[in-house]
Amino acid sequence: MSSLRRSTSAAAALVIAASGLVLGSSPASALENGLLRTPPMGFNNWNSTQCRAEFNEAMIKGIADIFVSKGLKAAGYTYVNIDDCWALPARNSAGDLVPDPARFPGGIKALADYVHGKGLKFGIYTSAGTKTCNTAGFPGALGHEQQDANLFASWGVDYLKYDNCNNQGVDAQQRYKAMRDALAKSGRPIAYSICEWGQNKPWTWAAPVGNLWRTTGDISDKWSSMIGKAQTNRGLAQYAGPGHWNDPDMLEVGNGGMTAAEYRTHFSLWAMMAAPLLIGSDLRKASDDSFAILKNTDVIALDQDPLGKQATVLSANGGLVVYSKVLANGDRAVALSNETSATATISTSASATGIGGASSYTLKDLWSKAVRSTTGTISASVPSHATVLYRLSSGAARYEAESATVSAGGTIDANHAGFSGTGFANGANAVGSYVEWQVTGPASALTFGYANGTTAARPVDIAVDGTVVATGVPFPPTGAWTTWSTVARPVSLAAGAHTVRVTATTADGPANLDYLDLSR
Ligand code: GLA
Repeated sequence: MSSLRRSTSAAAALVIAASGLVLGSSPASALENGLLRTPPMGFNNWNSTQCRAEFNEAMIKGIADIFVSKGLKAAGYTYVNIDDCWALPARNSAGDLVPDPARFPGGIKALADYVHGKGLKFGIYTSAGTKTCNTAGFPGALGHEQQDANLFASWGVDYLKYDNCNNQGVDAQQRYKAMRDALAKSGRPIAYSICEWGQNKPWTWAAPVGNLWRTTGDISDKWSSMIGKAQTNRGLAQYAGPGHWNDPDMLEVGNGGMTAAEYRTHFSLWAMMAAPLLIGSDLRKASDDSFAILKNTDVIALDQDPLGKQATVLSANGGLVVYSKVLANGDRAVALSNETSATATISTSASATGIGGASSYTLKDLWSKAVRSTTGTISASVPSHATVLYRLSSGAARYEAESATVSAGGTIDANHAGFSGTGFANGANAVGSYVEWQVTGPASALTFGYANGTTAARPVDIAVDGTVVATGVPFPPTGAWTTWSTVARPVSLAAGAHTVRVTATTADGPANLDYLDLSR
């Protein structure tokens, strides 16, 4: 985006603010600097190092290296951000901030260049006060907004976290708008993170000021702190949207103070709440478990969904909390979150999420990856402090087996009640016996309606466009030929025409097949 348009947008926002209108989260009143249309993803050192000496150039370069080598960049992590304690306690004779030469011997510009060289973005920190938060007394930007914004721009900074310490009692809106305008005039697109801890309800005024605003005090690496941030942040869904996000603070995943289930809850809830996903652990020492959480692309996709809706709470009964998030393709993300100290069953329904009315839905568990279909009930036994996270899809397109191609020896029958349509495919009892459907994508899951009145599973290979995508998929006994059930498998089917063939792998042939549903 050109600097001209940025300045114009900032000026327009100022006019709105000056007119005294109550500012909500509608796009017209958002900052609209074109940045952070989805929540920021990246790294910030604070939760791991605070001000300790290990926060230095080697660490930050190492993180940038790992973003590339361990697939985090590919998963969407972009910003490599440094927090407090990067500067010397005094400005130089020109009034400029000076990087601490012990921590950053190459200076900040060289570090930003290194990060950019990896195809990543670089972020920095200062405070909307006379000093930052650390007791060493590093200089803040209050009264130096343009000089500091210009310096950051000259270094190639892409993201500024602007803290609230030592603010001298100056009005928060005035302080944060001053830096917004300084960034706009710097000539460089710089994402703007307001770190005011929710003290002045920034969600009510900051959409035209910053790209995100902290809603809470600082997180720490324990369950009570993390879930407390979620509890505060989750009531603010109406204020979030593309370019302007609620920020319940940075991730603690991997720092060691929570269980794996608690960290999965942390990551699940941050994704549901369209919160920033800023990794706060030292990835140079991270376990495979931490990487598995941080790189769960199904969960990341919820956070980064282009519609930009924060989840709302459907119910919260005694620490059993159901969240629902509307997604751009019409799907819903549903979180069943257990804040209590005992395992509990948590339930909701498709209609409670606003996509009722379909005869069947596909539910994908985004941690276990299991896919199943439901007629609408969504329920799970959830261990203490765990969260079951689903993607719920409706709008399945149904292809009846009676309109499919059945291999030689198979028939279309109607002698076992309970099928949909006018019949079902009764394939020949032989290895290689198949049923093939002509379908139209896109689809994210295949769900087969079937009955198996024997006591043994009837496995099949599933092929899409002639390529086997799943082998030996069991169609377990249903108890009777008149008892119909489903088997579902995730699939990645592009838009357009496809063939789906199921082929028996045992001499029993396939189960009786009623239909194939394609979920969006
Ligand atoms: C404040 C912020 C933290 C961190 C520290 C640094 O506490 O809220 O996120 O930036 O300052 O001193």
